[in-house]
Amino acid sequence: MKLSFAPLEGIADYTFRNAHKRIFGGADDYYTPFIAANPSCSLKEKEKREVAPGLNPGISLVPQILANRAYAFVSTAQRLAALGYREVNLNLGCPSPAVTAHGRGAGLLRDQDRLDRFLWELFEELARAGREGAVPAVSVKTRSGFADRSETEGLVRILNRYPFSLVIVHPRLRTQLYAGSADWDSFAVFYGNCKKKPAYNGDIRSPEDAGRLMARFPGTEQIMIGRGAVANPALFRMLKGGRPPGTGEMSAFHDELLSARMAEIPLFEKAAGKMKELWFYWSGLFEEPEPYIRRIRKACTEEDYRAAVEALFGECTLKGDAG
Ligand SMILES: Cc1cc2nc3c(=O)[nH]c(=O)nc-3n(C[C@H](O)[C@H](O)[C@H](O)COP(=O)(O)O)c2cc1C
Repeated sequence: MKLSFAPLEGIADYTFRNAHKRIFGGADDYYTPFIAANPSCSLKEKEKREVAPGLNPGISLVPQILANRAYAFVSTAQRLAALGYREVNLNLGCPSPAVTAHGRGAGLLRDQDRLDRFLWELFEELARAGREGAVPAVSVKTRSGFADRSETEGLVRILNRYPFSLVIVHPRLRTQLYAGSADWDSFAVFYGNCKKKPAYNGDIRSPEDAGRLMARFPGTEQIMIGRGAVANPALFRMLKGGRPPGTGEMSAFHDELLSARMAEIPLFEKAAGKMKELWFYWSGLFEEPEPYIRRIRKACTEEDYRAAVEALFGECTLKGDAG
């Protein structure tokens, strides 16, 4: 079973994945948050850092591209190929209104004829570029449709027409955003009809969830996990038979991320804001953490924040079945 860390914009940046790999490990590869392909095909400074090989040492990394123009996608893919990447991933899943309004991300699922034309152009352009130099393989991460479950079969037929190296499915509709639960019946349509077995993504939070998935879809060869692996950074390791997270590991992970955030945003309030977002995920790991989490959330100075975090790690025990 191959295990992939999902792209998580705003959370799983290169500092997160470096610390995660070193302290917990278990993920076979990591996907970058989306890189928005733009008409000038340039990368923003933040995007350059995400894909800089020197900042991702020893990490098997797949850059993800958000695009609605074949030319912009392929030019960005070529830039990434020049950095050594052999696979890039097309984002057909981002549900954010700012993205879908421009027909990007899950917005491309709204009109299947348009999606088909876009993919045809993309692979034509890629083949043309491939005659002149190296181009990476293209995988895709998609939702199961835009607004209705009846769209799924048509979507699978379209994806089957193109030589994607991998189809990763997050079986929610765009209109669901992250509400409700992942729809395994929609995943079954991909599982039963995709040319190659699709990878599964969505709501896997424990080894038991993965076990249930494998019982229903035993041919699944790859699982991608996002929020579950933020909430329990040892989840990949546990899925490979390893141990749950330890307090020392969580504390080291926290300290490394805080230092990285402080180096990036020297303003404590901003760095702390990002850390407090992570505490939203991590609170479920501990027995009765509420008063400690409240103290962390309320901390306004670096000193108070560090004292609150130290109190939590010193006084709260991790749940036996952490995660
Ligand atoms: C904060 C956040 C940021 C995300 N950023 C991206 C992204 O950049 N690209 C992408 O394809 N999906 C993105 N996703 C979706 C996740 O990769 C994943 O598909 C989704 O969270 C469902 O999987 P999970 O239940 O394992 O988290 C994001 C999700 C969240 C919650």
